[in-house]
Amino acid sequence: MDREHVVIVGGTSGIGLATARYLDQKGYTVTIAGRSVPPENKFNSCHCDTRDEDSVKNLFHSLEDKNLTGLVYASGITGPKVHISKFDKKVWHTLVETNVTGALLCIKYGYELLKKTQGRIVIVNSLAARTYSKYSGFEYTMTKASLSGMVKQLAIQLAEDNIQINSVYPGMTKTPMLIQNVDKELLTQEEKVIPLQRLAEPEDVARVIHFLISKENAYMTGAGIDVNGGQFMNG
Ligand SMILES: NC(=O)c1ccc[n+]([C@@H]2O[C@H](COP(=O)([O-])OP(=O)(O)OC[C@H]3O[C@@H](n4cnc5c(N)ncnc54)[C@H](OP(=O)(O)O)[C@@H]3O)[C@@H](O)[C@H]2O)c1
Repeated sequence: MDREHVVIVGGTSGIGLATARYLDQKGYTVTIAGRSVPPENKFNSCHCDTRDEDSVKNLFHSLEDKNLTGLVYASGITGPKVHISKFDKKVWHTLVETNVTGALLCIKYGYELLKKTQGRIVIVNSLAARTYSKYSGFEYTMTKASLSGMVKQLAIQLAEDNIQINSVYPGMTKTPMLIQNVDKELLTQEEKVIPLQRLAEPEDVARVIHFLISKENAYMTGAGIDVNGGQFMNG
């Protein structure tokens, strides 16, 4: 039997790339997908722009002969905090296309392959959807809240095929997305008020994704795991 194969959409950087490395260490075969796949890397890779339906279709077409047991959707962008009076439809549409529509397209085109393996899906959500975002705009929080609804609703539909779908909700995590958008000094201040007194490393999130995508996760679906150092406690 082929090794379990996981595709990480948004696997070219940050949380997705850390997850690729962690799953590789754990014996999975990994395909990373994104717009900027480096030519030299140790993983199988495929160019994919999640805003483009044909691009997503091609990605899953290229995986048809693989034992695809997992899909991680880590693709995401953030947007600046602006006042509602400056709301810009173009910014909104780009965020929705990347963060939400892309996830729907990946599940649409990954469905038949995951049905064959009774596979698992993990969506990378955000602490923003549990509360609010300090540094991103309301559009970002809204796209993440939309993913929360998607996971719960699709969990019921996909359960008919024994496909499980769950989310992780990271707090601020040391990736290019965070470091390029928030001042270093502000991040140092933030660390002091996090109960565990540090920002998340991408690997902290990768470990939780590993559990959710693995066969160890036998009975969780439609759920979300908070990975935020104690900043927000759900339930
Ligand atoms: N860092 C944090 O503090 C934090 C906290 C909570 C949640 N998150 C979430 O974690 C996820 C990963 O973010 P990160 O922090 O790891 O940021 P990152 O390092 O910027 O990674 C973002 C990933 O998304 C991919 N991506 C963006 N637009 C895409 C598109 N149109 N098509 C395909 N891939 C696209 C990027 O790949 P290419 O550029 O190669 O396309 C990259 O692999 C996001 O959903 C983010 O909202 C992050």
